[in-house]
Amino acid sequence: MKKYVLLFSMFLVVLFIYSCQKKAAPTVSGTTMYLDLPATPDVYYASIDKDNYEATVGRVLFYDTHLSINNAIACGSCHKQALGFADNVSLSVGFEGKVTKRNTPAIQNIGNNVADFESQFVTNTNNSMLFWDGRENNLVNMMLRPLSNHVEMGLEDVSVLPKKLAGLGYYTKLFAQAYGDTSITTERISECLAAFTASIGTQQSRFDQYTQGNTTAFTAQEQAGMNLFVNKYNCTNCHHVTTGGYNGVITDFKDIGLDQNYKDMGRGTITGLNTDNGTFKVPSLRNVALTAPYMHDGRFATLSDVLDHYSHGIKPSQNLDDNLKTNKQPMQMNISDQEKQALIAFLNTFTDYTTTVDPKFSNPFKLK
Ligand code: HEC
Ligand code: HEC
Repeated sequence: MKKYVLLFSMFLVVLFIYSCQKKAAPTVSGTTMYLDLPATPDVYYASIDKDNYEATVGRVLFYDTHLSINNAIACGSCHKQALGFADNVSLSVGFEGKVTKRNTPAIQNIGNNVADFESQFVTNTNNSMLFWDGRENNLVNMMLRPLSNHVEMGLEDVSVLPKKLAGLGYYTKLFAQAYGDTSITTERISECLAAFTASIGTQQSRFDQYTQGNTTAFTAQEQAGMNLFVNKYNCTNCHHVTTGGYNGVITDFKDIGLDQNYKDMGRGTITGLNTDNGTFKVPSLRNVALTAPYMHDGRFATLSDVLDHYSHGIKPSQNLDDNLKTNKQPMQMNISDQEKQALIAFLNTFTDYTTTVDPKFSNPFKLK
């Protein structure tokens, strides 16, 4: 009998130690993590006068599951570095196992508008429209949306967050480095998250090498794919890929005839205009090879499926864009198999493998 009492009290002690540890560091399905952040921050912005420390704090916040109501989900749970900060499922799973309404988009080059970099943070002058329906264009304001979203992170009252983070210990020093004092506020939290996400850039793909004058960077097939993309199929009418550079910052919303009857009104929900129903932001094609599945609802598993849509799947939806019509009817591009392969080869040149492995964008929490 004594033996069992002893065993039971040992169990309680272990449980106690375990629950203390749990408070000290984030846990991922019961596993303890620790913060592995080098003392010298990485250089997040090479050419602009912006404090790197904010982005460093932002990196920690981005990967910290404490930012969700039940410590289960971080921004990085859906926006995965290896996948161009997109997710590999049609709809992502939030803090309570519920799924998001739309496909998780890649995060890249949203702070690319370098000349306007500071003002994006302060005012609404950034042209880049965020979310599939463009409902937000201020990066700092935007950051609090996923936190309070009832599906994504569930923190309905964001004002509890500063206190929660202060209780974790490791943030005090980080905020002091960035701001000169230890105060943690929701404004600072969103500013740091914005600084980190704005620093995620893809500028080192083979497409970039090509547009910077290295024309041997493309194979004959990729070159053929580019010609089809630009000339024959006029994809550039919406995806403004030009040889002058392409940062993927886009402000257009289009209906590409995915459904005859809209399941999601897209931009129309925001503007209230009938003519905007069924239109969605023209997505950046940067890193597109990594960001499957595709479209606002992740309905297509592969690039080949996407091309099948443009080839012979365009529906006569109410607001179908004129660029996808012939004689007022949905266009039938009839893309041949060989052309399909060339187009896919060209789309693959947008992949920037440096971003996907860059340590400064990686998860700083390591398993103990
Ligand atoms: C549960 C999954 C999930 C989590 C967690 C999550 N996101 Fe997202 N994120 C999404 C989805 C889905 C969208 C698109 C929503 C829409 O367009 O309606 C999105 C959109 C975005 C965008 C807009 C990108 C663009 O080009 O329009 C940014 C930036 C972003 N999230 C950053 C964050 C940050 C920062 C966090 C953490 C505070 C975060 N996300 C947490 C799923 C998630
Ligand atoms: C009328 C404007 C328009 C034209 C022309 C157009 N696209 Fe698109 N494209 C869009 C929009 C808008 C979306 C997102 C639609 C949605 O999710 O509802 C999209 C989505 C995509 C995607 C999926 C990206 C992702 O991250 O989900 C790929 C790939 C793509 N287009 C390639 C092409 C190719 C290749 C062509 C030429 C054959 C082309 N597009 C022509 C507007 C256009």
